[in-house]
Amino acid sequence: GGGGGGGGGAGGGGGLVVRCSNMLLSEVPRNLPNTTHRLFLDYNQLVSIPADAFLGLFLLVELDLSHNKLALLEPGSLVGLGPTLQNLDLSSNQLATLDPEALGGLQAKTNLTNNPWLCDCDLQEAMPKLDLEPASLADVVCHSSVPEDAGATGKSFVMVAQELDLCAGFKRTTDVAMLVTMFGWFAMVISYLFYYVRGNTEDARRHLEYLKSLPNKQANTEESSTMSTMV
Ligand SMILES: *[C@@H]1O[C@H](CO)[C@@H](O)[C@H](O)[C@H]1NC(C)=O
Ligand SMILES: *[C@@H]1O[C@H](CO)[C@@H](O)[C@H](O)[C@H]1NC(C)=O
Repeated sequence: GGGGGGGGGAGGGGGLVVRCSNMLLSEVPRNLPNTTHRLFLDYNQLVSIPADAFLGLFLLVELDLSHNKLALLEPGSLVGLGPTLQNLDLSSNQLATLDPEALGGLQAKTNLTNNPWLCDCDLQEAMPKLDLEPASLADVVCHSSVPEDAGATGKSFVMVAQELDLCAGFKRTTDVAMLVTMFGWFAMVISYLFYYVRGNTEDARRHLEYLKSLPNKQANTEESSTMSTMV
């Protein structure tokens, strides 16, 4: 990994500008001055943003993370920037999903183009939890999708979500699970009834045998009574 540092200095429009563009950085530099207003980390080798990467940068208004290899934004990594950040560039990275735990609360104008977005139920559920400038989300173009045959590839996720419910497949599997569980209970009730009825048939048969013996006795007594009348 590369060292920290980079060109810094007071930029126009006030506030400290820290430029660490194109420096082969594999990690976000530590101990950045807390007076930084604009931070350029584009064209580096960053693969993830740790949860505490921008801790204390209360004044940051612009953050450029474009042209890296970012696949993961750890939960909490950007939320602290919520109140001040106005421009966030995440374009040309390896991001597949938007995690509200990392981006929640950010209202920044965000460049999300040129990432391999996976349009699935997770992304569909994440969207309403994001506060990013709505126009930014139009740049989430599906690179792949679940279900694969949704025909979403190459389309903007916002458009796809208007036509398709990507969580429908998930609901279908929960429906199936519910059905299987219900069938299981049903089978248990049936087998219980079966054994209950079989146990009762034993009793019933014994009872029936007893009942059968009654008319015989009655017949016997009838017989004996006719005998007696004959006598
Ligand atoms: C910035 O850090 C300095 C010490 O390094 C501290 O005195 C100052 O209060 C911090 N400023 C903010 C806004 O937190
Ligand atoms: C977003 O990023 C792409 C590529 O990194 C760039 O070409 C495009 O101009 C940017 N869009 C905006 C609105 O800044």
